[in-house]
Amino acid sequence: MRQPLQHYLQFTDLSADDYAYLFNRAALIKAKFKAYDKHQPLTDRTLAMIFEKASTRTRISFEAGMYQMGGAVVHLTTGDSQLGRAEPIEDSAKVISRMVDLVMIRTYEQTKIERFAANSRVPVINGLTNEFHPCQILADLLTFIEHRGDVHQPLHCLQGKVVAWVGDGNNMANTWLQAADLLGFTVHVSTPSGYEVNQAVAGVKNPHCYKVFQDPLQACQGADLVTTDVWTSMGFEAENEARRQAFAAWCVDEAMMAAAHPDALFMHCLPAHRGEEVQAEVIDGPQSVVWDEAENRLHVQKALMEFLLLGRV
Ligand code: CP
Ligand code: NVA
Repeated sequence: MRQPLQHYLQFTDLSADDYAYLFNRAALIKAKFKAYDKHQPLTDRTLAMIFEKASTRTRISFEAGMYQMGGAVVHLTTGDSQLGRAEPIEDSAKVISRMVDLVMIRTYEQTKIERFAANSRVPVINGLTNEFHPCQILADLLTFIEHRGDVHQPLHCLQGKVVAWVGDGNNMANTWLQAADLLGFTVHVSTPSGYEVNQAVAGVKNPHCYKVFQDPLQACQGADLVTTDVWTSMGFEAENEARRQAFAAWCVDEAMMAAAHPDALFMHCLPAHRGEEVQAEVIDGPQSVVWDEAENRLHVQKALMEFLLLGRV
């Protein structure tokens, strides 16, 4: 049966119930992968991946994931397609979506992916925009659930928990806010002044799903998860020097981890810069789960692609 068209452009595009299904399904798909047990529900399906920014994890997880599920991929960049020669997004969407079953896009403004989706016949997945990075938060939540919860009741362990966000009020921070709003936890946000999260961008309904702290150490107090990201996201390179100065005190260090809950986890979406947003002792230390987090991009996105194309199976 043909699925109703469902895009994944931001975290709020799915319900809490959908997420409970997805995390459970991702755990099953992961277990099959580890057992070399074939899982090929997407035979003859094709994913187009459009990258207007660099990527390691997103490209390999989507590409390997699609092949592992029996499908195929087409990889496009701005430089090697007509997208870089000003073909309208609407026209590109109409053409590309007549030839493939699914599209993943990494680009700049969220409005670009929205315009693409509005003209697409097939589901569109956000592989990172300036505003959001929902696939990364999917992987981060799956990782938290694996370490601190139960995949059979995946959302339980998130309720009432505190996630400390130390750093830029960027695409990752906005997506954490959306996840907290929907799934019932709180984000303690500490950013340098001028780099705050914008509640209107995140579009959170419950203003209590996040709390702002000037001092990053205080934001980490009692946190169940401490997480951060690069000081300068892709597309903002011209601000690099100003950001290096503004963010100097927003380096996740051992003191911040000591202020957190004793069994707090540390996450970073990667790529990381040791000595900038995180101390080597933290990212390479015992509380860090960054490699599980990176790996889980593969498993959870396989569950997502299957869900968007086939629904709950
Ligand atoms: N975390 C993440 O999205 O990594 P890439 O930029 O390598 O895809
Ligand atoms: N906030 C970072 C995430 C990279 C995966 C960026 O947008 O560059």
